[in-house]
Amino acid sequence: MICRLGEARKVVEPCSVVIFGASGDLTSRKLIPALYQLFKEKQMPPDFRIVGFARREKSDASWRKELRDALDQFSRTKPVEEPVWEEFARHICYCQGDLTEAPAYERLGQQLAAFGSEPLRQNLLFYLATMPSQFGLAVEQLHQAGLLRRDIEAGWQRIVVEKPFGHDLASARQLNLELTRYIGEQQVLRIDHYLGKETVQNILMFRFSNAVFERLWNRDAIDHIQLTVSENQGVGQRGGYYEEAGALRDMVQNHLLQVLSFVAMEPPVSLEAEAIRDEKVKLLKSIRPMSTGEIAQQVVRGQYFAATVAGRLRPGYRQEPKVKPDSNVETYVALKLFIDNWRWSGVPIFLRTGKNLPESASEVRVQFRPTPHVLFAAQCGQRLDPNSLSLRLQPNEGIYLRFNGKVPGLSVAVRPVRMHFSYDAEFGAYTPEAYERLLLEAMAGDATLFIRRDEVETAWEIVDSIRSAWDNQPLTNREFYSAGTWGPVAADDLLARTGHVWREPMAVNNKG
Ligand code: BG6
Repeated sequence: MICRLGEARKVVEPCSVVIFGASGDLTSRKLIPALYQLFKEKQMPPDFRIVGFARREKSDASWRKELRDALDQFSRTKPVEEPVWEEFARHICYCQGDLTEAPAYERLGQQLAAFGSEPLRQNLLFYLATMPSQFGLAVEQLHQAGLLRRDIEAGWQRIVVEKPFGHDLASARQLNLELTRYIGEQQVLRIDHYLGKETVQNILMFRFSNAVFERLWNRDAIDHIQLTVSENQGVGQRGGYYEEAGALRDMVQNHLLQVLSFVAMEPPVSLEAEAIRDEKVKLLKSIRPMSTGEIAQQVVRGQYFAATVAGRLRPGYRQEPKVKPDSNVETYVALKLFIDNWRWSGVPIFLRTGKNLPESASEVRVQFRPTPHVLFAAQCGQRLDPNSLSLRLQPNEGIYLRFNGKVPGLSVAVRPVRMHFSYDAEFGAYTPEAYERLLLEAMAGDATLFIRRDEVETAWEIVDSIRSAWDNQPLTNREFYSAGTWGPVAADDLLARTGHVWREPMAVNNKG
């Protein structure tokens, strides 16, 4: 039986998508390939326009040509189908303008007003793929030009913004104020691309449509949880940004806490966006605040140094372009959290993320409690491997259950074996792109997969307390790690203190 959740809601009305920052990387790498794919799969509304807004002088034809080239490189399905592209390209146009200047918005308004139907003129999705410092101004100018309103008389207008949503709680609050000065919170769609990932969405389906697992999803059965988001590349050309961000702001504040909230939240009362987001906020608010002393004990940061990986020298973080030679910015974070609620009381939750680790892999590992008594102690010692369940978010998307089984033969040897569900094997090779889903939801006006204001602010509260505890403290020797390894020694110590160990994601170590 296939239950199509929320299918009735996905009616997408004709609309215009206006992309600010149309000359940027995000537009050519992600947004246009995603819109093309949606068009190809007949998911776009019956009529639509895509308007690129940017400073550079370009004609419709020259922008289309640029996008066509970008598709050759970044489309998820290659080669690009010429007839599909030609049809798609007819919906694309360009508006030259400086987003700091009012006349540019007038031109944009005239361009939109010339579109053939009411919905194309009034249903407007503004995608702000620009620097966050320009969000407030763009919203204000759009409002002054009569293109963005709180009291919507006809049609709908929404804005989509990308992270970073500020660099701390105060700046996030300020940004949220600017975004909602002229429009309502429900018109603001904050993107965290992890929420567009199929496997992240599947966490809720998995938990709340399977009685077997949800019954075990609490402190009685679970010993601890590990969430790993590792990347095997260094920061590369993004040193300038990274010097301001660091792994805590870049990954933990958003992606890791978002995944954690899906893993640990209570069942929502319905599948409505607000019901789900209410539960996520409740979860984030239940994370136990840490004192400076506890942060020193429970949070580890790290930075990679140069090493030869697979025969090639990888530079250390301090040698990357635009990075200060004595930088203390973290490229790795591991932390132990507790969630103070009925379900999770006393269960440690370990999160870790880092650049230049051995693998790119994201995985949630739920480690169950050991059996109360080991019947096979004579055969396999007192330590029987406890059961675990791994939700593999990427790559090799799937779910693995690890349990103990008898080794065939005359002896009574017991060893861990795995039961394995793989997306590819079950559903065929299908690698959906997060932006396709998110753009579709944005056009449909479903905010479930976007971050609400209070989620952002609560996540910053958690991150800010850690940042201020680190303030001006130089990294110690135990916090540096060699490029291509699983992080600093201090991160192993963090788990060892309570008798735990990090489990490597499945792809690296098939025995898990
Ligand atoms: C981004 C971060 O939000 O997520 C990057 O800014 C990071 O530093 C990226 O590399 C990871 O995303 P994914 O989808 O490749 O896991």
